Amino acid sequence: MKKKPIILGIESSCDETAASIITENEHGNPIILSNIVSSQVDVHKDFGGVVPELAARAHIEKIDLITQKAIEKSKVKLEDVDAIAATAGPGLVVCLSVGLSFAKALALSLNKPLIAVNHLEGHALSPRLNSKLNYPYLLLLISGGHTQFLDVQELGVYKRLGTTIDDAVGEAFDKTAKLIGIEFPGGPKIEEYAKKGDPNKYNLPKPILNKGGCNLSFAGLKTAVLKISKEIKTDQEKFDLAASFQKTIEEILLKKSKIAIKEFRNKYNKKEHTFVIAGGVAANKKIREVLINLCKEEDFIPIFPPINLCGDNAAMIALVGLEKSKIKKFDNLDYPVKPRWPLDKDAAFLKGAGVILK
Ligand SMILES: Nc1ncnc2c1ncn2[C@@H]1O[C@H](COP(=O)(O)OP(=O)(O)OP(=O)(O)O)[C@@H](O)[C@H]1O
Ligand SMILES: [Mg+2]
Repeated sequence: MKKKPIILGIESSCDETAASIITENEHGNPIILSNIVSSQVDVHKDFGGVVPELAARAHIEKIDLITQKAIEKSKVKLEDVDAIAATAGPGLVVCLSVGLSFAKALALSLNKPLIAVNHLEGHALSPRLNSKLNYPYLLLLISGGHTQFLDVQELGVYKRLGTTIDDAVGEAFDKTAKLIGIEFPGGPKIEEYAKKGDPNKYNLPKPILNKGGCNLSFAGLKTAVLKISKEIKTDQEKFDLAASFQKTIEEILLKKSKIAIKEFRNKYNKKEHTFVIAGGVAANKKIREVLINLCKEEDFIPIFPPINLCGDNAAMIALVGLEKSKIKKFDNLDYPVKPRWPLDKDAAFLKGAGVILK
C-alpha cells in the first residue's frame, strides 16, 4: 500500500505560534496526529492589542519548542514528514517571517519540499478537518482581520462575493470588548457578557444593511458603541451593551448571508448547496445558531469547523499543505512573505462607504 503523506504545518501569522502534524486515512480523510497552539495572550494583554515586535519575539522563542512538541505528540519521526507547510501570508510581516524562515530551514536541512500557505485558505478549508465537503461551496470567513463571502470553487480558486468595507467582525468584537473594559482579546467574552444582558436595550446602527449587496460594514457600529460606553457605569449596563452588540452582529450577518446565499444559488443550479462558516468568530454559538436556522430555511447544509479549530491553528495550514502535496504544488525556498494576500486576487479593493454605490 502507498504510504500516506505526512505533513508538518507551521503557523505564526499573528499572535499564535502553532505546529501540527496531519496525515490521511485510507478514504482520503485528514487525520490530525498533533495540533499544538501557543497563544500570546499574556504578552499583549497590557497593551490592548497585538504588538508586532513583541509577537515576533515570542514566536522566535517558542517556534522550535512548539514544533518539537507537535512531532513528539504525533509519534512521527521528523525524517518521515513528507512536506513542510507554513503560513506565508497574510499577516504581520515580522511574525510571518519567523514561521516561514523556520519552515524553509527545516525543508532545506531535511531535503523536503516547502509549501507556502495562505492563512485564509487554511480557514477556508478548516471544516474539511472534520466534515466531508464538496466544491463549490459558499464560505463566510469571519475572523480577526477579514469578513468576506467567497465562492470556493476548488483548491486555490476563490471568487469573492462580498467583503467588509472597513473593520472585520472579529475586530469589532475586540474593540467593543475593550470599550467596555474587557481585557484583550475580548471577543469571546462579549458572548458571555451578552448572555446576561438585554439585547434590546441599545439600538445600534447596521451600516449598509440595505445596500451594497453582500458587502458589509462595522465601523459605524464601533462609533456608536464608543459613545454609549462613555455613559455606562454598572455591570448590568455593560451586559446590556454586549447583548445589544451581539444581536446587531447577528442581524447583519443574517441579512448579508441571505443575499450571498441567493447569489450563490443563482450561480449554481445544484441539488445540494453547502454554506461553510469559518474563522475565529465562527466559534460564537449564537452566530452559529442564527446561521444554522437560516440554512434550514434556505435548504443549505451548514458546516463549521470544530470550535477549537475556528481560531488560528496549524492543523488547517497542514491541511492546505496536504491537499497541495497531492497535486505536487510545492514552492521554492525563496518564496516571499506576503503581508497582504487576498484569496481572490481579481477582486477590487473596497474600502470606505464611498465604494458602496447603490
Ligand atoms: N466566541 C467568539 N465570539 C466572537 N468573536 C470571537 C469568538 N472567539 C473568537 N473570536 C474572535 O475571533 C478573532 C480571532 O480569529 P482568528 O484567529 O481567525 O483571526 P486572525 O487570525 O487574527 O485574523 P485573520 O485570520 O483574518 O488573519 C478575534 O477577533 C476574536 O475576538
Ligand atoms: Mg486567522
